[in-house]
Amino acid sequence: MPHLFEPLALNSVTLPNRIVIAPMCQYSAVEGLATDWHMVHLGRYAAAGVGLIIAEATHVSAVGRITPGCLGLYTDAHEQALARIVRFMKETGPALTGIQLAHAGRKASMSEPWKGVKPADKAKGWVSVGPSAVAFDEGWQIPKALDEAGMDRIVEEFRTAALRSARAGFDVCEVHSAHGYLMHEFLSPISNKRNDDYGGSRENRMRFPLRIVDAVREVWPKERGLLVRLSATDYVGEEGWTLEDSIAYAKELKARGVDMIDVSGGGSSPKQKLELKPGYQVPFAEAIKKAVEVPTIAVGLITKPEQADAIIREGKADAIAIARALLNDPFWAWRAADALGHEVAVPNQYLRGRKLAV
Ligand SMILES: Cc1cc2nc3c(=O)[nH]c(=O)nc-3n(C[C@H](O)[C@H](O)[C@H](O)COP(=O)(O)O)c2cc1C
Repeated sequence: MPHLFEPLALNSVTLPNRIVIAPMCQYSAVEGLATDWHMVHLGRYAAAGVGLIIAEATHVSAVGRITPGCLGLYTDAHEQALARIVRFMKETGPALTGIQLAHAGRKASMSEPWKGVKPADKAKGWVSVGPSAVAFDEGWQIPKALDEAGMDRIVEEFRTAALRSARAGFDVCEVHSAHGYLMHEFLSPISNKRNDDYGGSRENRMRFPLRIVDAVREVWPKERGLLVRLSATDYVGEEGWTLEDSIAYAKELKARGVDMIDVSGGGSSPKQKLELKPGYQVPFAEAIKKAVEVPTIAVGLITKPEQADAIIREGKADAIAIARALLNDPFWAWRAADALGHEVAVPNQYLRGRKLAV
């Protein structure tokens, strides 16, 4: 069997193969509620032969949303809208279902990206929060620096959203600690200028994100999978968060019972410098996997079946996540199965098309 198509166990749940749909914001929610767009978008992937579908950044409060169109999970109605989609995905195919729990911090209250990089319209926007009153860039909001009570509230919001995710039926919960959003803002010295117990040393900067992970771990069912997505580096050199920092963070995450680290990068500084080339972040997933002895997901311009298979075969990561290539071709896993000489689960309704493809 090609390595890409080997199952992967996370506690008592098992990915039928190593292909993960990376979380992708759709900016199509109404007041944070999932809509028919999400049903079609996520439901289609459940028919597409992948191993794990991670739904887009789903925010633990209205204030934590990136845009007014972003998903949320902070009322019974949000929970029910997602539970319906999870039920459909489970009826449709063997892929595991995942949710990404998020808080956008200082990068909240923006417009949908197709309107340009700018704050949300005044009538729809809100005041963002962050570790310090420092904007991401010119033209971005200056966030309100969180006090202890505000931080305590957010920890509880993550806890409640994790409980809701479990009730909605997700198999995997991914905590979003990457891309310059709230948890990463606390980690990175670029955005964290605090001089209390939550700023300064790396240990202090990790304190709030680790409190969130602890709260999620307490309520997330032990038999299901718990992931954390991190940015391995800020891509700004020593003045930012580095791979060495990520290894230290991943050690703490592993000690807290996180099952797998989803290794992404960047997002905290407009000055980041990265060379976009095939598999550009795979070395980070490999470094964290080896140094921490924890399973990892590699992501970033993984587009070719042979490339994906080699990453697993060579022990660089335990799974690969794909975003854009799966938007371009939702049935990428079928193509990969053909290229590598394997077969994936196909729903009965699509069997005739599959035979044609072969
Ligand atoms: C439309 C779109 C939306 C995205 N939304 C999210 C998100 O909600 N959460 C997240 O962690 N990353 C998000 N990302 C980043 C992807 O998950 C992925 O890490 C990145 O696109 C690199 O993978 P790729 O080269 O396969 O596209 C998004 C990417 C795209 C293209």
